[in-house]
Amino acid sequence: MSAPAWLVTGASNGLGLALVLHILERGHKATGSVRTKAKSASAVEQIEAKGGSVVEMDMTESKESITAKVQALGRIDYLVNNAGYSILAPCEEVTDKDAHLQLNTNFFGPLYVMQAALPTMRDAKSGSIINVSSVAARDPMAACSLYAASKAALEAASESLAKEVAPHNIRVLIVEPGNFRTNFVSALSDMSPEVESVPKHYDDPVGVILRKFLTVHGKQIGNPAEGVSRIFEAATGQEGPAGPLNGKVLRLVLGSDALRRIKVWNENWAKELSLQEDSAVSTDFKE
Ligand SMILES: NC(=O)c1ccc[n+]([C@@H]2O[C@H](COP(=O)([O-])OP(=O)(O)OC[C@H]3O[C@@H](n4cnc5c(N)ncnc54)[C@H](OP(=O)(O)O)[C@@H]3O)[C@@H](O)[C@H]2O)c1
Repeated sequence: MSAPAWLVTGASNGLGLALVLHILERGHKATGSVRTKAKSASAVEQIEAKGGSVVEMDMTESKESITAKVQALGRIDYLVNNAGYSILAPCEEVTDKDAHLQLNTNFFGPLYVMQAALPTMRDAKSGSIINVSSVAARDPMAACSLYAASKAALEAASESLAKEVAPHNIRVLIVEPGNFRTNFVSALSDMSPEVESVPKHYDDPVGVILRKFLTVHGKQIGNPAEGVSRIFEAATGQEGPAGPLNGKVLRLVLGSDALRRIKVWNENWAKELSLQEDSAVSTDFKE
């Protein structure tokens, strides 16, 4: 049997590059996508040196273009939608252009990649789709409205898709990282408006959170090497802390920070639900 084939988007940096290298080190085949090979020369060199391949794909390309590029790869056993970035800004101030760019990159691009890969997975009656979301999809902080919306859209589509493709033996895994020490915060500051442009009336909490984010670069608690190991284990069932989760969880939480935030969010939601039981059932017809 030939080695399983992976496609990982956003392989120029961070979790994507680390995952591609990890996959290759474990004897699987991997293709990483980068926006341009010229701008990602070091990543291309590292991937090719380990026997992997690289394709150019921007997540904001048209559906036709993304479909052609993904289908040209042939069989994909594991598809990882990893490429993404965050804009931080007060919701009221986000421009239409920035909002569309955020959703196109983090939701529509990944959607087109999944739609392109699914026919061959269905024919083969196997495959895994791994969508890298964020703790922000479940516990959005102030300043993250559009980023959280893009990841929540990806999660909701993933959860529904998982039910549609289960009979075809295709699995879907949603990954929810906390803060990881990658290029994420640096990219975020490039894509977000200047902190100084936040109006005074949004300084607390939006400005406060923006300034805090800009100081965490290089100090995040999450170790990318450990993060991608957990993704590989959960996807393949191979040995390691996340191996036993293979096929058992829809969501893979990465990082003590993410785990803590999601637990608190769940407790708060449980409290809210218990407060409104009478109100919720009161809308039923009394038949
Ligand atoms: N690190 C964290 O704290 C954290 C937390 C929660 C979720 N995540 C998620 O984890 C994933 C990986 O992020 P990371 O932490 O590894 O950050 P990163 O180091 O900034 O890497 C992001 C990757 O996405 C690519 N990308 C961004 N916009 C793109 C576009 N329009 N088309 C194609 N590729 C694009 C980047 O390519 P370029 O190099 O060309 O920009 C890069 O390869 C993202 O989906 C992110 O939302 C990260």
